[in-house]
Amino acid sequence: MNILGEKMDLFSAKAEVLVLPVFSGEGFSIESIVGRMPESVRKSAARSMKASEFVGKAGEVLAVDVHDAAHHHILVIGLGSATDATLESAREMIGTAITLTRRFGAKTLAVEIPVSEEGDAADVAEAMVVAAQLADYAFDTYKEKNGAKRMKEITLVIRDGRDVLRVRKAVERGCAIAGGVAVARDLVNMPAQVMTPSALAEAAERIVKEAGKNFSLKVLDRAECEELGMGSYVAVGNGSDEPLKFLHLTYTPERSSRKRLAVIGKGVTFDSGGLSLKPGDGMMTMKCDMAGAAAVLGFFTVLGQLQPRCEVHGIIAAVENMPSGKAIRPGDVVKASNGKTIEILNTDAEGRLTLADALTYAKKLEPTAMVDLATLTGACVVALGEEITGLMSNNDELAQSVLDSAEDAGEKMWRMPLEKRYRSLIESDIADLRNIPTSRYGGSLTAGLFLEEFVDGLPWVHLDIAGPAFAEKPMGSYLGKGGTGHGVRTLVELVERM
Ligand code: BES
Ligand code: MN
Ligand code: ZN
Repeated sequence: MNILGEKMDLFSAKAEVLVLPVFSGEGFSIESIVGRMPESVRKSAARSMKASEFVGKAGEVLAVDVHDAAHHHILVIGLGSATDATLESAREMIGTAITLTRRFGAKTLAVEIPVSEEGDAADVAEAMVVAAQLADYAFDTYKEKNGAKRMKEITLVIRDGRDVLRVRKAVERGCAIAGGVAVARDLVNMPAQVMTPSALAEAAERIVKEAGKNFSLKVLDRAECEELGMGSYVAVGNGSDEPLKFLHLTYTPERSSRKRLAVIGKGVTFDSGGLSLKPGDGMMTMKCDMAGAAAVLGFFTVLGQLQPRCEVHGIIAAVENMPSGKAIRPGDVVKASNGKTIEILNTDAEGRLTLADALTYAKKLEPTAMVDLATLTGACVVALGEEITGLMSNNDELAQSVLDSAEDAGEKMWRMPLEKRYRSLIESDIADLRNIPTSRYGGSLTAGLFLEEFVDGLPWVHLDIAGPAFAEKPMGSYLGKGGTGHGVRTLVELVERM
C-alpha cells in the first residue's frame, strides 16, 4: 500500500473514499461539516446527520454516497471531544475507515489528519499510518486468492502547509514501524511446522543482512549452549526432533548514547506442553509461543530503518517443546548457566526454563536495561484478559518508562507486583528452585519471581504477552485475528527514549 501526505482540500483528493474525522463538543456543527462537502450531497448529508443524531462521539460513523465520477463515498467519523481524544482515537478512526472502504470494494482513500489544539499533526499522522498498515495486513500466504483485499493508496490530507515535511517524515517512520510489526505477525502466523527454531534463525539472518553494516548475528547450536552451561534451556529441546538455536542479534549505532538495551524474546516455536501434555484445545494456538521472539525480530527490522543511538542486543533461545522418549520428565533436575538448579515438576512451564539461560546470557552483556517478552502464563490472560500485557519489574524508573512507551505506542500494559512473600512458593525440596509454584494462585507473579532469580538486580522489565500476542478475535478496529506483533511498537518507543 502506498501512503502519501499532501497539503490539499480533502474534497479535491482523487480517492474513492473521502474520510472526514470530526471532534464532538464546542466546535461541532453539522452546517460547517456539510458545508465542506460537494453541493450535490449537502442536503442529504445534513438530513441523515440530523436523523441519526450525529454529534461526533468516538466511533460514530456516517456514510454519504456521492454520485460523481471521482468519489463514491464520504465517511464522517467521530473522534470524541478534542480534550479526551488521544492518538488511539486517530488509530481507531482509520481502522474503521479501512474496514468500511474494504466493504465498499474500494481501494483508495483520502483522510484528513485530525489535530486538536495541543495535538501535533506529525504525531497523529505517524499513529494513523501505523494503524492503517496494521489494518491492511493480511496473512494469506496459504490462500488461493491472496492480496485481493489489500488497499492501494491512502492520502493523508494535511491542513497546515507548515506541517508538510514533518508529516512526510512521520509517514516514513510509521511505515518503518508497521513493517516491523508485520514481520513479527508473519513469523507468528506461520505454522509451527515451518516456523521451527532453524527457520527463526534463518529469519534473523535475513533481517540482520537487510539491516546493514551496524548489525550482526551469532547463532549457537546445542553443543555450544551446553558448553555455556545452559542446562535449563537445552533440556526443553530434548523431546523435539527439531534442533534448537540460540540467537544473539546486535545493533551497534554509529554514535552511541552509551545506553545498552537487551531485549529477550521467548522463542518456543511450538508448545505441546511436553510430557505434561496440553489438552488438544490448549495446543491449537501454541504456534504463537514464539511471539516474544517474533517481537524482537520485528523490532530489529525497525532498528535497521530508524538507526537510533542506543546499542541493542536481541536474545532468543529458540526451541520446540515436545513429548518423546528423550523428553524431560516431571521430577527431573537441571542446572542453568548461572549455577542454579531447577526441579522441573511440569514440563509445560517451559518458557521460564528457556528464559533462565537467555536472561543469564543477556546479563553478561552488561546492559543498562533488560526487557523480556514472553507468552509465559495462561494465568496472565485470566488476570488481565486478552488485550493487556502483564508487566513486572525490579526497577520503578524502567517500568514507568516502558508503561509510558506502551501508552504512546498504543499497546496496553499493566504493572503487577513481584511480591517477595510469594518467593517461597517456588522453593524446591531438592533443588534451588521449582519450575511451578506450590499454589494454584498468582501464576503470573510466581513466573515473574522465577525469572527474577536470573537477572541479578539489573534494571529489568518482564512483559507477559500471553494475552495480546495472538488475537483469537479482532482487537479493536485495526488489529485483525492472529499474530499481533504486540511489543514491537512499545520497544521502538522505548529505545528512542533511551
Ligand atoms: N505458553 C504457555 C502459556 C500460554 C497460555 C501462552 C495461553 C498463551 C496462551 C506456557 O508455556 C504454559 O504452558 N504455561 C503454563 C504454566 C503452568 C504449567 C505453571 C500455564 O499457563 O498453564
Ligand atoms: Mn507451556
Ligand atoms: Zn509456552
